[in-house]
Amino acid sequence: MHNNVEISKAMSIKLDSIFEELPKIPKFVEGIRRAPKRDFKLNKEETILALKNALRYIPEKWHTELAPEFLEELFTRGRIYGYRFRPEEKIKGRPINEYKGKCIEGKAFQVMIENNLDFYVALYPYELVTYGETGQVCQNWMQYRLIKKYLEEITEEQTLVVASGHPLGLFNAPTAAPRVIITNAMMVGIFDDQENWHRAIALGVANYGQMTAGGWMYIGPQGIVHGTYSTILNAGRSVLGIPAEKDLSGHLFLTSGLGGMSGAQGKAVEIANGVGIIAEVDPSRIKTRHEQGWISKVVENPEEAFSIAEEYKKKGEAISIAFYGNIVDLLEYAVENNNVIDLLSDQTSCHAVYDGGYCPQGLSFDERTEMLNNNSIEFKKRVDESLRRHFELIKILVDRGVYFFDYGNSFMKAVFDAGVIEICRNGKDPLDGFIFPSYVEDIMGPVFFDYGYGPFRWVCLSGRSEDLSKTDKAAMDCIDPEKRFQDRDNYIWIRDADKNKLVVGTQARILYQDGMGRMNIALKFNEMVREGEIGPIMLGRDHHDTGGADSPFRETSNIKDGSNIMADMAIQCFAGDAARGMSLVAIHNGGGVGIGKAIDCGFGLVLDGSERVDRIIRTSIPWDVMGGVARRAWARNENSIETAIKYNDERKGVDHITLPYIPKEGLVEDLVDKKFEDDFTHHRDTPDE
Ligand SMILES: NC(=O)c1ccc[n+]([C@@H]2O[C@H](COP(=O)([O-])OP(=O)(O)OC[C@H]3O[C@@H](n4cnc5c(N)ncnc54)[C@H](O)[C@@H]3O)[C@@H](O)[C@H]2O)c1
Repeated sequence: MHNNVEISKAMSIKLDSIFEELPKIPKFVEGIRRAPKRDFKLNKEETILALKNALRYIPEKWHTELAPEFLEELFTRGRIYGYRFRPEEKIKGRPINEYKGKCIEGKAFQVMIENNLDFYVALYPYELVTYGETGQVCQNWMQYRLIKKYLEEITEEQTLVVASGHPLGLFNAPTAAPRVIITNAMMVGIFDDQENWHRAIALGVANYGQMTAGGWMYIGPQGIVHGTYSTILNAGRSVLGIPAEKDLSGHLFLTSGLGGMSGAQGKAVEIANGVGIIAEVDPSRIKTRHEQGWISKVVENPEEAFSIAEEYKKKGEAISIAFYGNIVDLLEYAVENNNVIDLLSDQTSCHAVYDGGYCPQGLSFDERTEMLNNNSIEFKKRVDESLRRHFELIKILVDRGVYFFDYGNSFMKAVFDAGVIEICRNGKDPLDGFIFPSYVEDIMGPVFFDYGYGPFRWVCLSGRSEDLSKTDKAAMDCIDPEKRFQDRDNYIWIRDADKNKLVVGTQARILYQDGMGRMNIALKFNEMVREGEIGPIMLGRDHHDTGGADSPFRETSNIKDGSNIMADMAIQCFAGDAARGMSLVAIHNGGGVGIGKAIDCGFGLVLDGSERVDRIIRTSIPWDVMGGVARRAWARNENSIETAIKYNDERKGVDHITLPYIPKEGLVEDLVDKKFEDDFTHHRDTPDE
């Protein structure tokens, strides 16, 4: 067996080269949100394994001091976070030139990681959670320290491999290869379930990357404002009869959640000129959004919420109202008092209902945390009861004509798991989806993803707001508002983006664009970098996109050829992005819906102004989007077929998409009907043996 002296000598990047002495435990700042204790069910042998796993990062001289500390963390927090290695100073995405590094990508990804962990941006910064209750940059602070060091050391001829938060090492690679490849929680099929997942994460061998948390591409709640704005606007257009050129004026959107992504709802409803009531149980989230100006009014009783909403509806003016309380209580009130609601949704973290993502009716936020810490069995019971009541109330409202849609938070799956079989469309299991539409199935899918429109984004790595204004203007000039109504909405979005004060954290922007739109904007930005008009740019997207996520309860809920249970698209997208030279590629299990329910991927591309990057943009960006459109077209999605036909024409000799032949209406149905009838007759006529 090798001894630790040999092992230490064999490494130049290690915690003992970062710290001469064991660092002191940094102070926890009062008022910073902390993750609740995570479910801890390891037995004695597994606990030993978890400790040995964590100590792999720690030089032997510190083992006796840190082993009991890690054990304590495991018992009190359900995980080993290695708090001792958290930097004492404030983490924040700083201008790129303030970082050490041997290549631009190495420095650029430090900006991204630190923005994901900024106190002002991250949900639970001490536990490395960026958003979505459980979405982490990496598992623990030892990994964070090593990743940072690797990014300082990485050259243009190396790739950093990060497996579920663990930096496996630097490996020689061509300049054209990605600098960082990330995988998160890619569990083997038969073990890809909740029980094994909880075991793996407590053992310290898995990380929940969500989407842009573990993909280091989070840009604060702005990242979701544009999608939310488009979703509610188009929900209004399709179910409330609002014309394409009009907004949500005079209409009420009622929902819940003011957290990481859900926090975008207040801002989005105001940009769409509607009225919003958003229930939130955690006062600290309300405070954050109110201080940011993303919520205009805070109330504590439902009556006041509805009366203000009525007043603003009548005036046709926009307002976002936070209701401090449980969404189920708010719905109880609306049902009892016959309040008019136009659009209804929910954005509690139902992908992690039993981990604290959903606060049951009857418990305050603090009581929820306490019960979660001390009695997880009772907590689960209360969550299930609350979800069942939540469902009943929605059903009553829907029967009265309210349009409810699932906001991709696994709400309907959680209701099903709580024992409500009638939520399934086929009355028995979720294979054919649920009785209420999901926002992707009805809106995002057909109106955006099928055309290739998705959440393209960029970060001005210089940290200068002037750079952001210049890129906003340049992006706007690339959009033809007359092309489609989606382009007009996108044009208005980017025109008003600065005015809407969307930046939280780094100087970043989200802009929905289709494949060619994204490529043209990226080429323009790279040219601006080349000409010294702006500093370098990080380009990326949410995984929640046309080709980025195989997620039958969300992104691929409008895929109806049976392939909604396949994950080929996301894996091809990830591999294709890597092959074409994106600077970072990431692939995760779980996304925003929970482990085993999705495979999702993303990328980061550093625009350094070079012609090399121009070539990467020309091949990788169209692939990243059109791979998804091609799959959607193959699934016979009308709008994707239209987009692919046009693409095949425009890109003759460059790209080529296989398109599906469609049998005449009734041909297959009649044939199969007849066959089944004959077979039935045949079986009936055949005497029993
Ligand atoms: N915004 C989007 O476009 C989008 C897209 C896809 C999925 N989602 C999903 O939406 C969910 C929310 O994401 P997030 O990042 O905001 O998570 P989050 O955990 O940061 O926020 C959820 C918020 O809901 C609040 N909450 C929980 N139970 C409540 C209850 N019963 N009543 C009122 N408030 C309650 C919590 O206190 C929390 O602030 C996730 O499941 C995510 O995957 C959002």
